[in-house]
Amino acid sequence: MPAPERIPPGRLTDAELVTLLTEGRLTVLGQVRGASNAVLYCSVAYEDEEAACVYKPVAGEQPLWDFPDGTLAQREVAAYAISESTGWGLIPPTVLRDGPYGQGMCQLWIEAEPPGEDEPGLLALVEDEEPGEGWKAVAFAEVGEGRTALLVHADDPRLRRLAVLDAVINNGDRKGGHLLPAPDGRLYGIDHGVTFHTDDKLRTLLWGWAGEPLPAEAVETLDRLAAELAPGAALVTRLAELITAAEIEALRARVSALRATGLHRQPSGEWPAIPWPPV
Ligand SMILES: Nc1ncnc2c1ncn2[C@@H]1O[C@H](COP(=O)(O)OP(=O)(O)OP(=O)(O)O)[C@@H](O)[C@H]1O
Ligand SMILES: [Mg+2]
Repeated sequence: MPAPERIPPGRLTDAELVTLLTEGRLTVLGQVRGASNAVLYCSVAYEDEEAACVYKPVAGEQPLWDFPDGTLAQREVAAYAISESTGWGLIPPTVLRDGPYGQGMCQLWIEAEPPGEDEPGLLALVEDEEPGEGWKAVAFAEVGEGRTALLVHADDPRLRRLAVLDAVINNGDRKGGHLLPAPDGRLYGIDHGVTFHTDDKLRTLLWGWAGEPLPAEAVETLDRLAAELAPGAALVTRLAELITAAEIEALRARVSALRATGLHRQPSGEWPAIPWPPV
């Protein structure tokens, strides 16, 4: 079965970008403000190609109570490996490499394009009880002065794939600010440090399809992914360098559960787990 098409393809292949990110000369140009971990904006140059990237050194990772210290960079690379395996290309090329502040993850910088004035965007807060045409409801939210609004996201096939990917990688932090629409029409998700925990950590804005049947294309993709996660497969060898055996087993179990139900993940509690603030 051929991999699903990317929407649309880029100039350099992802494999070429991985070489650029891995082998290129890394120059730190600045620091992204307001992030919980050290996030450095860099340029990376290799032969006649140059690109902007983020470099998140392991030494700059903020310790978390529920994840072992110094493992977020590997999780970001493992998330990229799964995104590549799906063929959906939802995560920018991400590698593990050495840099001026030691080992860290390096990821292609995506210059996000804000929606035009008449374009709806991916998320919205609306005053209505029901989402409008082309929107999916997430939850009601307090918006101050005792008022509530309905948080909605776009009924967008790229977001729908991302919702499936997040369920697979067990993403604990899918915020609106981590959705980057690129000028070429592709949508990228970023910030996959809190993923692959063995416990259910799914915290996302993308609950709009919860409980609905997975699209046939997603089911085919999960079938292919399950085969690639078989013991001894190349993807598993790669993942074993990045996450623990128990985390790989939990990943297989999540893929199996999605295939068995054929449904988009539903929140495990009474309320959907939503990152706050949502953007
Ligand atoms: N690949 C990328 N392309 C473009 N911008 C990026 C990329 N990676 C990170 N950024 C920018 O840097 C910010 C911080 O990065 P990121 O969210 O990965 O780090 P974090 O330490 O987990 O931050 P946060 O506390 O916001 O979760 C992002 O919100 C985004 O603005
Ligand atoms: Mg984060």
